[in-house]
Amino acid sequence: MNAPVCIIGTGYVGMACALGLADLGWPVHGYDILPERIDRLRRGIPPYREPGITESLQKHLASGRIHFFDDIHAAAKDARIVIVAVGTPSRDDGSADLAPLKAAIEQLSSVEFAAWPTIVIRSTVPPGTSDKIADAIEHWADLIYAPEFLREGSAVRDFLNPDRIVVGCSDASAAVTYVNLLERLQKPVVFTSRCNAELIKGCSNAFLALKISFANEVANMCDTLGATSDDVLRGIGYDQRIGSEFLRPGIGFGGPCFEKDVKSMAHVAAQHGLGKELFAATLRVNSAQPMRILDILEHEMLSLSNATIGVWGLAFKAGTDDIRDSLALRIVDELGGRGARMVVFDPAVHVAPLPLGSRMVTSALEATDADALVVLTEWPEFARIDPLAYASNLRRRVVVDGRNVLDSSRVAAAGLTYRGVGRSMRGPVQHDPLAAAVEV
Ligand SMILES: NC(=O)c1ccc[n+]([C@@H]2O[C@H](COP(=O)([O-])OP(=O)(O)OC[C@H]3O[C@@H](n4cnc5c(N)ncnc54)[C@H](O)[C@@H]3O)[C@@H](O)[C@H]2O)c1
Repeated sequence: MNAPVCIIGTGYVGMACALGLADLGWPVHGYDILPERIDRLRRGIPPYREPGITESLQKHLASGRIHFFDDIHAAAKDARIVIVAVGTPSRDDGSADLAPLKAAIEQLSSVEFAAWPTIVIRSTVPPGTSDKIADAIEHWADLIYAPEFLREGSAVRDFLNPDRIVVGCSDASAAVTYVNLLERLQKPVVFTSRCNAELIKGCSNAFLALKISFANEVANMCDTLGATSDDVLRGIGYDQRIGSEFLRPGIGFGGPCFEKDVKSMAHVAAQHGLGKELFAATLRVNSAQPMRILDILEHEMLSLSNATIGVWGLAFKAGTDDIRDSLALRIVDELGGRGARMVVFDPAVHVAPLPLGSRMVTSALEATDADALVVLTEWPEFARIDPLAYASNLRRRVVVDGRNVLDSSRVAAAGLTYRGVGRSMRGPVQHDPLAAAVEV
């Protein structure tokens, strides 16, 4: 029997590692500081919603491949590999809060391991962090930094199908046991220094966030020029040097990673006296985008005061029930501030902090008993609802599609005013480009 792999932290990343490694045939021990989370996990109840997670958890519990512990000593003592996947949230100044990571390492230092373990940090950390931790623990463990690139909504699938495996270490031999765990994935492995690996993760997220902000700027330009961002961005994305992924406009990026990771990179740049213009611009564009959606709605409604707004979607993205730093929540809050009441439906989120007078409902159609409808999460099921089924419910006949998921022509054909992001309904060319060229 192989020694168990111990996972510290059973959140999105920890659970994806636990279930993914169990799928690959490895015995797994999970540990978390939240005893109630461990209790539920032992009963087969996952901490969040994700396609297939409940079935996978129950299968591996039943086969005995996964065990959960509320005692770190019992969870870790026989492990040769300990994966740390605790949260690293943003502090007020934008820097990463490393307190949960330091606490986890401190707790591990008191474990009486059967053999010298390899500690694998998978949390996202600023460059230089794991070298410092490695210096502090070298008398009892090896340390590698191996960032995770999964997306919520497809976490275990992404864990098992990464584009690359990045391993930051001071000596490749220390990383062999960890890489062996993932050998069956047959993916390229980038062996590098810990600091490089930390930069690969931080800069990858910063670049993806930058692409989203870029798509939003292009879409906003399309709105003003009477152009269609679907076509413009599709045309740009076919260029293999650019690629179409993350080139979709919307309400901006939310969730627990992009904003905090870009802020952390900006903080690191500033700390070292380096320019942080691109990071700062990415964040500025992103925080303006929800306001733009609100302005479009207010423009169509003339006033939001005392209006009832139907809201489809609260999760920060489709496929998850995660509302951490969701821009949908920020928009709902702001709508409340402008005097509106909301009737909200999300297929996965059933409880959320809402402004006074607003409520959650249990079906998408129930949420259309309103003056206008806004779509804030790109759940594919929203696109499958025939606009004729809700057209007559919407008293002011306005639909603002903050995610460009609806079929604009079908919505318009149902007699509704449709506004998307960069999906001008005025036709492709409104102004005279030749006249503009002469003026310039
Ligand atoms: N969520 C994602 O999509 C994603 C993707 C890639 C990387 N990451 C990074 O991975 C890390 C974890 O993210 P997450 O979304 O899984 O976080 P999460 O908040 O969902 O889970 C963190 C877990 O760690 C536990 N924990 C905290 N301190 C602990 C300790 N001392 N001992 C044991 N358990 C402890 C918490 O109780 C929680 O269950 C972060 O650094 C994040 O930036 C996240």
